[in-house]
Amino acid sequence: MKENVSTSIPLHGEIHFNHPTLLDPSPALCMETAPPSAQLLTPKRVLVMGSGSGSNFEALVHALRPWGIQFVGLFCDRYGTKITERAKRLDIPITQPPPRSKKGPLNEAVTAFLQQPFDLLVLAGYMRILPEHIVAPYEGKIVNIHPSLLPDFPGLNAIQQAVDAGAHITGITVHLVNEKVDDGEILSQARLPILSGEPIEDLEARVHALEHKLYPQTVLRYLART
Ligand code: GRF
Repeated sequence: MKENVSTSIPLHGEIHFNHPTLLDPSPALCMETAPPSAQLLTPKRVLVMGSGSGSNFEALVHALRPWGIQFVGLFCDRYGTKITERAKRLDIPITQPPPRSKKGPLNEAVTAFLQQPFDLLVLAGYMRILPEHIVAPYEGKIVNIHPSLLPDFPGLNAIQQAVDAGAHITGITVHLVNEKVDDGEILSQARLPILSGEPIEDLEARVHALEHKLYPQTVLRYLART
């Protein structure tokens, strides 16, 4: 059932929801504020996979916990990363493969992680490709965020790719995950200008700030629609 979520806190940016169930009449990028004791009609359980800094992971947790959305586990394939520090601080159980795991044991660890019940698996800077046999059973239940306006600039270093290509506009995309890289159905996009002479670090910071708004907003709407 579709939830009735109000929009408030307008933010700068241009947003577009592509998925028919996520259509938003407002052209502004907004994040809904949870009313006290907010809860979606059915409780939702979210799993997260990440490999690095985890800034999106933390933004998701802060924005969505007030809606009663439960973050039931983080899978991290690397050791000594900031995302696991964040998970500890946020009191979210961490699963890791044995150190220096090759592909086989790594995939076994991922498969075991996904045995727990969940409504959505959120990829937040997970730097490995999930193989088809892992992705296929969860069609429509895995989302990813990518720092370009897909289908432009898939793959690594997407922000730099856009700059190198002389693009004037770049942005971010939240999409469903399939067995191909950065290829699944687009759920939402937000765009921002590439400023002339702007250091890449500044552009990256603006991209990330936009990600921290768009990802929680899209995940909330996607979970609320079921
Ligand atoms: C983000 O730029 C995201 O778009 C990409 O990986 C990066 C992860 O950053 N998929 P963080 O770990 O969330 O800080």
